[in-house]
Amino acid sequence: MAVELAPGVHWVGVVDWGIRRFHGHELSTHRGTTYNAYVIRDEKTVLVDTAWGPREQEFLAHLRSVVDPATIDYVVANHAEPDHSGSLPAVMRLCPRATLIVSRAGAQSIPGHYHASWNMRAVKTGDRLPLGRNALVFVEAPLLHWPDSMFTYLTGHNILMPNDAFGQHYATAGRFNDEVDTGELFAEAEKYYANILTPFSERVLKKIEELLALNLPVDMIAPSHGVIWRRDPLQIVQRYQEWAAQRPAPRAVVVYDSMWGATERMALAISAGLAEAGVDHKVFHAAVSDVNDVTVEIFRARLVLYGSPTHNGGLLSSIMPLIEHVKGLRMKNKIGAAFGSYGWSGEGPGLLEAHLRDSGIEVVRAGLRWKWQPAEDDLAAGRALGRELGALVRER
Ligand code: FEO
Repeated sequence: MAVELAPGVHWVGVVDWGIRRFHGHELSTHRGTTYNAYVIRDEKTVLVDTAWGPREQEFLAHLRSVVDPATIDYVVANHAEPDHSGSLPAVMRLCPRATLIVSRAGAQSIPGHYHASWNMRAVKTGDRLPLGRNALVFVEAPLLHWPDSMFTYLTGHNILMPNDAFGQHYATAGRFNDEVDTGELFAEAEKYYANILTPFSERVLKKIEELLALNLPVDMIAPSHGVIWRRDPLQIVQRYQEWAAQRPAPRAVVVYDSMWGATERMALAISAGLAEAGVDHKVFHAAVSDVNDVTVEIFRARLVLYGSPTHNGGLLSSIMPLIEHVKGLRMKNKIGAAFGSYGWSGEGPGLLEAHLRDSGIEVVRAGLRWKWQPAEDDLAAGRALGRELGALVRER
């Protein structure tokens, strides 16, 4: 069902309640997602973004309930990623005279995806498209989330449509932030930021400064995923400034894999030491934990401990997806250490330390390693490491 945001402005997107893996299988979406698209009817009619191709029919039904697609004058594609552009071929077939508005980088990525000869116009920051009473203003937002990403602002109704930025993978019955559970909403918004936007944090801060300097009134922020920020819309902008600053809390995450329990016992000993130091923390067995959920906890925490036994001269493979994911996110202001049991060669902790450093995490103590199952003095060393790092994390 289409939903009215303001007179002449409608949400015509799709709620995908069932999706549990996104970006292929890269991202868990425990609460589903939405693909948001918006229709603006003025003297000119505009469609802003579309929906993922497999949900095209539902999207077109919502679109048709508001407007005859043949009458659309402009289609704005803020970003080429297929969750937003996937229904473009169908839309452009229905309104062949429409002009497709893209960013300058979008003028490469959209044809690169669809190889179609659409009537396309590239816009840059500050360009204005008069619609009649109101107008669209475009702001290029490279790397939020791809180099082609763009924000579209509607004057008069003061609605910012920033595509991926300020979004959440969150399927809900209500379309607005004042209609949903606030705890769930911010949990999903933070998971989205931590797992997708962290590497672009400096750009996030600069783009927000640039937007605020424009002094545009903002009555709603209508992203391309999740709910629309209608009540106190700038609250999510303020959260983004906090997240992008990357000042993690004095918390810790211990994440490990274990074959026969030796490394797990050490993880629990370190956890006991952290508790003795009064540091709140979480412990995850990597093989049975969701990579994206663990990533959020790492994003929030100042201290990260990786543990794995040595296996075939390397690490247990189930911890590697998390390590690779965190490496790509280039988090800042974190300290870490490694631990792991071994039987013969003992490379595990050294390899984990290299991964921590490659992830931009400062290794502040030499890794703990011990042969076979930990003896009482090994476990005592683990508790001592937890206390020592706990004290360090509290004082920094
Ligand atoms: Fe929601 Fe970058 O696509």
